[in-house]
Amino acid sequence: MTKIIKLDKNNPDIKLIEEAAKVLREGGLVAFPTETVYGLGANSLNEDAVKKIFIAKGRPQDNPLILHIAEFEDLHRYVKEIPYKAVILMKKFWPGPLTMIFEKSDIVPYINTAGTNTVALRMPSNRIAHLLIKHAGVPISAPSANLSGKPSPTEVSHVIHDLNGKVDVIIDGGRCDVGVESTVLDMTEEIPIILRPGSITKEMIEKVIGEVKVDLAVSEESSGDLKAKAPGMKYKHYSPNAEIYIVKGNLENVIKKIQELTEIQLNNGKKVGIMATEQTSPQYCKGYVIVVGDRNNPETIAKNLFDVLREFDNQGIDIVYSEGFSCDEIGLAVMNRLEKAAGYKEILV
Ligand code: TXA
Ligand code: MG
Repeated sequence: MTKIIKLDKNNPDIKLIEEAAKVLREGGLVAFPTETVYGLGANSLNEDAVKKIFIAKGRPQDNPLILHIAEFEDLHRYVKEIPYKAVILMKKFWPGPLTMIFEKSDIVPYINTAGTNTVALRMPSNRIAHLLIKHAGVPISAPSANLSGKPSPTEVSHVIHDLNGKVDVIIDGGRCDVGVESTVLDMTEEIPIILRPGSITKEMIEKVIGEVKVDLAVSEESSGDLKAKAPGMKYKHYSPNAEIYIVKGNLENVIKKIQELTEIQLNNGKKVGIMATEQTSPQYCKGYVIVVGDRNNPETIAKNLFDVLREFDNQGIDIVYSEGFSCDEIGLAVMNRLEKAAGYKEILV
């Protein structure tokens, strides 16, 4: 039986936080909101508890987990060495949606790191997440709280859909603010490497520490091979049941092309979905149109993306045509998730 606990993220009831923290301490699984997406947490130091995460999600064991901490001092316990660039980044972006990879210390069980000697750490800013980790008194390993391969959950209904009955507690803390998972930055190299783009962008990081690289797996289909540095990037991801095509190019041509393709597929008897924006949606009069956000405010697209992908499935859509978006700043994270969801199927106009 899964217990669902509702909390106000601005003013969470500490008694209920303590109840969930106790479940974590004692080796149970708790799904909780963070500022990015919902996470599925377990006590990182308890191997049996961490194993349960992989089982509940159906996650491959060679995909390592992020350890979530609540206090800066905790970092020293779980990593061997903290490069000075990481200190600068922590001061600027923690708590917040930046995950950094370090050499792990001996007390981090290998089940978290897929047998490697590096460990990913992050300090979430969401108040519920922060208090939960603090009260648990242990680091919390937490992947996104979805079934492996499905879009990450940004609302409690997504978590309930995927994990009800498979975990001990689900905390309902409302919608997640950011909507895409944290930026993952490998700090073990002289020039740090972005393994997964997020809302802390390359530009924002470079402003404080100078040059960083972006792993090739972020933008290329070659992420399907074993070269991907973040193992999670090599798996089929974010895949709704519908087939997705991204239509890219000059926006006017994109709209025309989507109208044309929609017409054809409707005539084939398919249920067609269109992922549009506030600026473009009035131009589509056929198909099931969902507005993902505002082109002038790309953060809105990041926030809604996974929810919209799930909504097409709820509607039983067969084929989705999505407009392409700019890859600038947070757009890189959006297009990275969308391209994976589409299996890199693109139509250029
Ligand atoms: O925003 C987030 O990061 C959310 C919330 C819950 O904190 N968590 C999340 O976890 O997205 P997950 O497991 O879905 O994605 C973690 C990513 C995966 O791509 C994984 O391969 C990579 O981080 N990763 C974790 N540890 C790593 C390591 N030691 N070396 C390289 N990549 C690592
Ligand atoms: Mg995930």
